[in-house]
Formats: sequence, C-alpha cells, structure tokens
Amino acid sequence: MNAITRLHDANRYARCIDMSKRVRWDIDKDVIRGRRFDTAHKFLPDGLSLADQFTTLSADEKRLMSQIQGRTYANVFGLAERFINAKVLEMSRDHWVGDQVALEALVRFSDEELKHQALFRRIETMVGEVLPAGYRFDADPDAVARSVLGKSTWAVLALTLHIELFTQLHYRQSIDPDGALSALFKDVFLFHWKEESQHAILDELEWLRHDAEVTAEQRDHAVDDFIALVGAVDGILQSQATADTGYFSATCGRTVDAAEARAIEATILKAYRWQYILSGAEHPHFVKVLGGLITEQQGRRIQTALATLQ
Ligand SMILES: [Fe+2]
Ligand SMILES: [Fe+2]
Repeated sequence: MNAITRLHDANRYARCIDMSKRVRWDIDKDVIRGRRFDTAHKFLPDGLSLADQFTTLSADEKRLMSQIQGRTYANVFGLAERFINAKVLEMSRDHWVGDQVALEALVRFSDEELKHQALFRRIETMVGEVLPAGYRFDADPDAVARSVLGKSTWAVLALTLHIELFTQLHYRQSIDPDGALSALFKDVFLFHWKEESQHAILDELEWLRHDAEVTAEQRDHAVDDFIALVGAVDGILQSQATADTGYFSATCGRTVDAAEARAIEATILKAYRWQYILSGAEHPHFVKVLGGLITEQQGRRIQTALATLQ
C-alpha cells in the first residue's frame, strides 16, 4: 500500500467517525417515539415483498403478506448483525495497537450493530403484539454466527459488504411515496440506513486491507467459502419461506389449498432471495469491488452459483 492510499484510507475512517457522530440515533427517542404498529398499514414496500407477484391474494391478504415478511425482515437482520458485529470486533484487533482512528471507527460500528440488534428485537416484539399468534423464526443467531465465523475472513467480509449495501437499496425502496406503508416501518429503514452507510465504507476498507494480505490460493479458497455462505443464507431463506407460508395459510382467514400454498411459498422464497441475496449481489458497487479482487474464472464460479437462485 503506498503513502497516498494510506492517507486516503485514513481520511475515510475519520469521515466515518464524523458521520457516525452526526447521524447517531436512539431507538426510543428517534425511531419508535411511543408509536405502535397498525395492521392497516403495509410493513415492507411492494418492491421488496414482490406484492404484485402474489396473484391469488386479495389486497388485504397482500398487506398481511407484507407484515409477515416485515417481521421476518427484523429477524433476518437481527441474525446477520450478530455475525457482522463479531467479525468487526475481530478485525478491530489489527488496530488495537496502531491506528486509533480506524479502531474508533470500528468500535462505533460494533456499538451501532449492537443497537440495531436491540432495535430489531423490539420490532419483532412489537409486531408480535399486533399479528396473530403462531409465527416462527427458527434460525438461531448464535448458531448461524458460529458457522459463518468458521469460514475465511475474506468470505465473511464479502458477505458483510453485500448485506450492508443492500440495506441502502432497501431504504431507497421504502421512500417510495406509498401512503399505505407504515410510517414506523419507514423510519426503521431510514434510521438503519443512516448508520449502515458508514458501515459499507468500513467493510470495504477492511476487506481491501485484508485482501492485500492473502495469497492467490487463499483467495481462491475464500471464493468457495463465499459461495458456501450464500448457499447457507439461502438454506435459512428456504426454511423461513416454508414457515411463513404455513403461518399465512393458518391466519389469512380462508382455506389455502396445497397448490396455492406451493405457489405462495415459491413467491415468498423469490422475494427473500431478492431481499437478502440478489439485491446485494447485483448491487453495482458490490460488483465493482468484488470484480477488482477476483479473476474472471472466480467471477464465473460466483455467477454460476447465483444463477441457481434465480
Ligand atoms: Fe445494522
Ligand atoms: Fe451495519
């Protein structure tokens, strides 16, 4: 790394600290503000829930679908932030003695992810108060984190950048001028995005810093790890699509036959794959950063794996 790159990176860590201080928010005072969820409103915007593609559902049923997916959204984020925070703390070790600006940026990052997990736990509880009983989210954040952290750091940082970039796209979807969207859920997207913007910059800095230290062989192995991690995420999404279809069928107030249930489950899985895998994998900045680190052959391996999810 040359002196100019080092100076440029030092400035980026400093700017992240600056922004982190400027946008810092409180769960109760800024996001929730004494509000409750109202089932008259959608939780996820149509562009994320793929509402239009649930062709057999009425308008009311599509709204219930967006609320179920919104609840799963809170749970998936709570889960992802468990391993992201653990990896950030691990990366911070390299700066304990040395670059105290980078260290502060990562400590703030970690503090924010702990707060986001608390926010998403609150959202899960609050949604549980207004939706019928019977919802399930079976993936355990600690077990998932242990498994993810068993993969190479390069792969975990790739997955992390991809996640923190798609939260920005989700925010953009939520600012769609849709009057039927819950104002509280909109604020969850807004406030989460405000802090995630810095995280995505830090992910990239740490990923590039780490990449400079790995051999070509280690990177090649890490590409396989990244593909395996995406596959593991997809496994969670498949289980959750099944659970959420069962919950929808049990609570929508009419009989859903087996053929319709299969169609609903396929569309939920398509929505989840879009939300948690493809919207990040196709994000232009992710494509650019990843493309700068891997060979064409490695890129093709990743594309082949992603193509199975379309
Ligand atoms: Fe977060
Ligand atoms: Fe984050």
